[in-house]
Amino acid sequence: MAENIELYQSILLFGGTGDLAKRKLYTSLFNLYKKGYLVSHFAVVGTAREKLTDDEFQQLVIKSIEKLGTESQVRDFASHFYYKAHDVTNLADYKQLADMLNELDEKYDTHGNRIFYMSVAPRFFGVIGQAIKTEGLMSETGYNRLMVEKPFGVDLQSAEELQSQLTSGFEDNQLFRIDHYLGKEMVQNIPALRFGNPILESAWSKDFIKNIQVTLSEELGVEERAGYYNTAGALLDMIQNHTLQIVAWLAMEKPESFSDSDVRAAKNSVFSKLRIYDKQGVIDNFVRGQYGRGEEVWQKAYTEEPDVPADSRNDTFVAGRLYFDTPRWEGVPFYVRSGKRLAKKQTRVDIVFKNSDFNFGPANGGRLQENVLSIIIDPMGSLEWSINGKAVTTDFQTDVDVLNWTMSAEDKALAPDPYERMIHDTMNGDGSNFADWTGVQTSWKFIDAINNVWDKDDEGVPLEIYPSGSMGPQASDYLLAQTGDHWVFNPTTEAE
Ligand code: BG6
Repeated sequence: MAENIELYQSILLFGGTGDLAKRKLYTSLFNLYKKGYLVSHFAVVGTAREKLTDDEFQQLVIKSIEKLGTESQVRDFASHFYYKAHDVTNLADYKQLADMLNELDEKYDTHGNRIFYMSVAPRFFGVIGQAIKTEGLMSETGYNRLMVEKPFGVDLQSAEELQSQLTSGFEDNQLFRIDHYLGKEMVQNIPALRFGNPILESAWSKDFIKNIQVTLSEELGVEERAGYYNTAGALLDMIQNHTLQIVAWLAMEKPESFSDSDVRAAKNSVFSKLRIYDKQGVIDNFVRGQYGRGEEVWQKAYTEEPDVPADSRNDTFVAGRLYFDTPRWEGVPFYVRSGKRLAKKQTRVDIVFKNSDFNFGPANGGRLQENVLSIIIDPMGSLEWSINGKAVTTDFQTDVDVLNWTMSAEDKALAPDPYERMIHDTMNGDGSNFADWTGVQTSWKFIDAINNVWDKDDEGVPLEIYPSGSMGPQASDYLLAQTGDHWVFNPTTEAE
């Protein structure tokens, strides 16, 4: 453990007893404690509506982490946790929280540094953000940083309203908009690969790349989240945020430096050139689907899932073709797709390079294929590079060789969970791996244009029903076929 890495702060968790806190936040904080980033100068305050004593809250925390450390580590860590029942809409409650934070600042000598984490229903983000300022929760001696869970609005207008509520108290650089995909190890590998290898960097353009594919495929269905998911759908749940953030890493120009402001500026710059579709553009370039029943009895149709209205027209699958109007990407399609109840859980990027036109002669049998670089993000990080080589035969024939690197189980265990990384980055004030406001605005403009067409069902964009366990509707394959391409990742056929 390095010396002097301890970070000083109090952390206030709104939604402190919720599902995310139990599954991710306590464990992420505990990992930071074990790594020596949180040692003695920290306090965590949980708030939620239910009434709990500090001791009861600490027991909740202990339950989540007890298998992850020694008994004394667990006990010491949990002793830094405090609880206050709180109604986020009742301004009077905030005063008590402010007093509590002041006392804890003194008790733990946290230098007045404060992180506020909003893990509550999104409709409360604005009110909490404003109350933190107006009710005196902000520290005057240290830093104040606000971590905001997704979704950041449901369209451009609501996102702008939220931004204006939050910036009435916080500067934009004090806002840390969470997109947990940006905290994933293999997503962070994208800039390392692109800018760390001159051979890739020089080939990263329309001159060598035929198309780029981003797939976020899930086996799970809507589970218990119909209340939220049926109002969001795959377009808002996975494309507006996670998918477009991955696309930004792939499409951006090389940043001036690897500082957070330069990285965000480079992403914003390419986002400003994302082609926003008109009605015909949406019809031509986007496919939406909803899962129907599958071959297994348990694979119910989406409309048969608990709490989903039987006539729901919600999208559980989206595939689309994006273009950036920049010299680097002229004419290169970026294909994106995400869906629930697909054949396999996999998050990946496939970069399809242009084929060689060299003629090896008639004996070759035409086996030259496009080179593909695949960056597999989840469930296990790996890289695959399929290239042409000579087949081991007496005559001269080429064949495809696949070079492969897979993250070891040990490395996977060592890699910080995205939430751990994001909390740590916030403590360090590093916003590189958070969604930038300008980028969020552009992504909403792009998404709103699609939704405006989809919302009007009479305008001829079919909702394709696909079988659970497939890779989505056939229209998704046709979308690529129209431009002479095909999805590289297709676990339903042997030729993956
Ligand atoms: C969340 C979505 O943001 O990401 C979920 O709301 C989705 O619907 C989840 O299941 C997927 O995340 P991961 O990290 O498991 O790929």
